[in-house]
Order: sequence, then C-alpha cells, then structure tokens
Amino acid sequence: MRKIWMDCDTGFDDLVCIALLGHSSEVDIVGISTVVGNTSLDWTTSNTLSAVENFGFDIPVYRGCAKPLAQEPCTIEGLLGAGGMGTINRPLPAPAKRTPEQENAVSALIRTLEETEEPLTILATGPMTNLAVVAILRPDLMEKIAEVVFMGGSYGFGNHTTAAEFNTFADPEALDTVIRAGIPLKMFGLNLTNQVQITPEHADQIRAVGSEFAEVVADLLEKYLRIRDPEKSQPMALHDPSAAAYLLWPELFELQEGILSVELHGTKARGATFCEFRPKRIDTPNAKIAMRAKGDDVANRVVSQVIDALKAVQ
Ligand code: RIB
Ligand code: CA
Repeated sequence: MRKIWMDCDTGFDDLVCIALLGHSSEVDIVGISTVVGNTSLDWTTSNTLSAVENFGFDIPVYRGCAKPLAQEPCTIEGLLGAGGMGTINRPLPAPAKRTPEQENAVSALIRTLEETEEPLTILATGPMTNLAVVAILRPDLMEKIAEVVFMGGSYGFGNHTTAAEFNTFADPEALDTVIRAGIPLKMFGLNLTNQVQITPEHADQIRAVGSEFAEVVADLLEKYLRIRDPEKSQPMALHDPSAAAYLLWPELFELQEGILSVELHGTKARGATFCEFRPKRIDTPNAKIAMRAKGDDVANRVVSQVIDALKAVQ
C-alpha cells in the first residue's frame, strides 16, 4: 500500500478526502497534520478528529501551525459557517474520544520522513505552512518525499480574490518555500477542480445510506452546495477531493509540466500562481499542473467511496 501523509485545514472538502483515502485499500494514511486555513487550528483539528472518529479510522492526528509564515491568519468562516464546517441542520459532532497526538505536526512529519524506507507521498489540501516549516528545518529530508500532490493555486482566476486561490492566498510564502525546496509537485488548481462538480443529487445519494452520520454528511454537503447561494443548493467544485482522487485514479487526469511560481508582493495579486508552459521558457520545470479531468467520473467515484465508507461504519 502506498504510504500517504495528509496535511489539511479540515472543512467539508478536506473531510471528503479523509473519507476517500481512509476507506481506500490502496493507500495507507500514516498521519494527518492540521493547519490554520478554512478556520482556526483548534477547529481544523477538531473537525479532523471528528472525521477520523466518525468514519472509524485509526489514524494519528497532529496539530500543526496556528499561523501562516508571514501574515496573520485569514480564515473563511463567514463563507463556510461556524468552525469552517457549516451545515443546513445536523452539525459535525465534536470528537467524543479522539484527541490530537502530543507531538506537533512538524516534528511528527520530520520523524516520519526520517523513519520511512519508501519515499512518502504527501497530499496537501490547505495552506502549505507545515510543509514549508519542515522544508526550512530539514532540507536533507526532501529526498524522502516522493511527491506533494496539492490542491491550491490556479492556472487562471482565483476564488478568494480574483487573482488568488484561497490556500495560496492564506500563505503564499509557504507555497513559495515548498516550490523552492525542489520536491516533485503536482498542482490541482481551480482550473482543474472546477471541472469536478458535486451536485444536490450526490447529497441525496449520501443521505439514502440512512445512518445518523450519513445524515450529518449530507447536511454538511448541502451547506457546501449553498456556498454561492445560501437559499439554493447548486453544483459546486469538489476542490480537495480532486487532488485526493488523483492518488487513486490518475488515469482520469491529464497533467502538464511547467514552471510554477507564486506572487508574494503587491496588493491586488498577492497569492496568485503562474504556470509557464512555453517550451523555450521551461528549461527546468518545477511542477506538473493538472489541466484536464474526467470530471463526472471523478465526482461519481468520490461520492461512491464516501457512501461505502459510511456503510462500513453503519
Ligand atoms: O480554494 C479551495 C480550498 O480552500 C480548499 O482546500 C478548501 O478546503 C479551502 O481550504
Ligand atoms: Ca482545504
């Protein structure tokens, strides 16, 4: 089984990644680190613990960075709801028994990289603060990372600002540090994730599982589907799970080599990502950018796996 480390700022789409990969027999999640992003570190950690507990996964959860590298946190509870995990009815329950490990995420990821025999794949679905600190502290361990597959950035417009996608906007220096660390990167930006749409019909399919926790997940999804219009649920990009799905079904995606960079200065464009693909300009590509997805296949397979995970804990 492929060893995976997840780094997340658990909101709803991060929770879907935990369900998707935690239930898969193809990957082994050796640890989950949490980071400030969608909401505070306390809430991203609580949401992660609740997801792991309610899906019945025995995966250690480590608290990571409570602040970005070079700015104050900019969370989005206003958009996502209280604790970054809004609902139309049933809330995500607080973790009843699970607590975070004593060890902090940076130390835990460093220890895991020191101990692993096979290089570790990292899935990052929030701001990259934790990974950047590991890269700064232990550049010698970068060779123990097989690749970082991440949801962030965009080959095109942003979502938090017109220029910047939220994860990169929340800590642009962190992404820049990870880019400069020379790790194999695969970027799943908004240009890709907008091709993968989760729909109200998927919420109905999840609710039909019939368990109390399935009702909770369906209520959380219904809220996610109302991000654009609080009064009416409508199809919504499945951001983080698009990156996670690549780890299970790479054949559903097309990636292109290029040079990835991130804007650190300015007021209008800070956090914007740029992808250079022109052959004469890319003598040393530093990333593979996801450009196309079989969106319906990805969304349907992700939802099907979440349903299987819910049935497994009924
Ligand atoms: O822009 C989408 C990203 O921001 C996702 O990771 C979502 O969870 C939020 O963190
Ligand atoms: Ca996220």
